Amino acid sequence: TSGGRTVWAAGALRDSNEADGGGRERKNMTAHRIAVIGGDGIGPEVVESAIPVLERAAAKHGFGCAWERLPYGADHYLATGETLPEPAFRHLRDDVDAIFVGALGDPRVPGNEHARDILLGLRFRLDLYINFRPVTLLHPDLTPLKADGGGPGRTGADEGGRRIDFVIFRENTEGLYLGRTRTEGDAQIAEEVNTPRGVERIIRAAFDWARAHGRSLVTMSDKSNAVPAHHLWQRLFRDVAAEFVGIEAEHRYIDALAMELVRRPERFQVIVANNLFGDILSDLGAALVGGLGIAASATLPRGRAGLFEPVHGSAPRHAGRGDANPVATILTGALMFEHLGHPAAARDLERAVRETIAAGIRAPDIGGRATTTGVAEAVISRL
Ligand code: NAD
Ligand code: IPM
Ligand code: MN
Repeated sequence: TSGGRTVWAAGALRDSNEADGGGRERKNMTAHRIAVIGGDGIGPEVVESAIPVLERAAAKHGFGCAWERLPYGADHYLATGETLPEPAFRHLRDDVDAIFVGALGDPRVPGNEHARDILLGLRFRLDLYINFRPVTLLHPDLTPLKADGGGPGRTGADEGGRRIDFVIFRENTEGLYLGRTRTEGDAQIAEEVNTPRGVERIIRAAFDWARAHGRSLVTMSDKSNAVPAHHLWQRLFRDVAAEFVGIEAEHRYIDALAMELVRRPERFQVIVANNLFGDILSDLGAALVGGLGIAASATLPRGRAGLFEPVHGSAPRHAGRGDANPVATILTGALMFEHLGHPAAARDLERAVRETIAAGIRAPDIGGRATTTGVAEAVISRL
């Protein structure tokens, strides 16, 4: 759209007419149907504290949300043996506009089979192949890196501190995650699946997004020097890059990229990688800008909204203490609103979060003393 920052190039929106192109939010009185799976550990706490914030933003911007809470998670699994029953899966597939998830993972389920069925099951079965994870420094003091960029040959210093702002496009339906394992003698073999269709479409999504958002550099990361199958990434990256004149395409091996992200995070704009590398880079990226408590994520198919869950997990040690940071979940809700066609609401939420952090109202993980609900209320008051 003309707004540039608003919509996916080829449309992540169910109905692009709902999108506002230049800052005006189109009034849409239909409520979006949003399924909510709080899940385990801090999941229910961060989700329930984020929902009133999102409600406030929706009301302000003239749209509604109908939240439908579903019970799936470790408690439900341990009580009933159900992970995600088929009728619930079909309901999530056919009847809702978006799925909003807290986190799944519980020490009482060491095999993590409920999370595999619910989280990975939804990603695979709904073909949510784009895992979009922005890494943005919301306040200068949130980075653990030196403010001046750390010395010769390193950039990042300017009057406002460092400017870290890139996005990770993580492939989310292939790789080692498919769980294709077998036993040979006493060896456990895990197969990594890289299909031309799967690799090409995530690379294309990264370039499409770069073009739609005025970015000039896309970095692809693999380990083709050690893993021959990754030459598929090399070939398809070259092919797709050739279609995007004006966007520089570069390659980094994943080990070198990890180093370079710590040394010079400012130089990166868009990073595309496979499922496992993208998972690891997500937490590294989060740490560069303040940690998992503020890291948002969207898991998308082409052409519609999808599943929205923060990068972090269930942080079991924090469960029930009221000190979990809800910002990751609030910003994940902002991504959800963006993909439901309400970019102005998304920008407003981001602004309110930045102002809350700047005012020093922070959960303990980012150096404050506010509670989960205290942070959420502070964001609401800035909306
Ligand atoms: P984690 O992300 O749950 O927590 C790691 C550490 O990060 C925590 O100990 C805590 O110090 C900090 N942290 C994370 N989120 C925070 C928040 N909102 N506020 C304050 N601090 C926060 O990772 P883990 O400990 O490796 O995993 C715990 C469980 O979560 C495991 O079962 C794992 O499989 C699962 N998990 C689920 C998801 C998901 O559902 N999307 C993602 C990652 C991990
Ligand atoms: C994430 C999580 C999940 C993943 C786990 C819980 C399976 O770490 O969403 O980043 O690896 O995808
Ligand atoms: Mn992860």
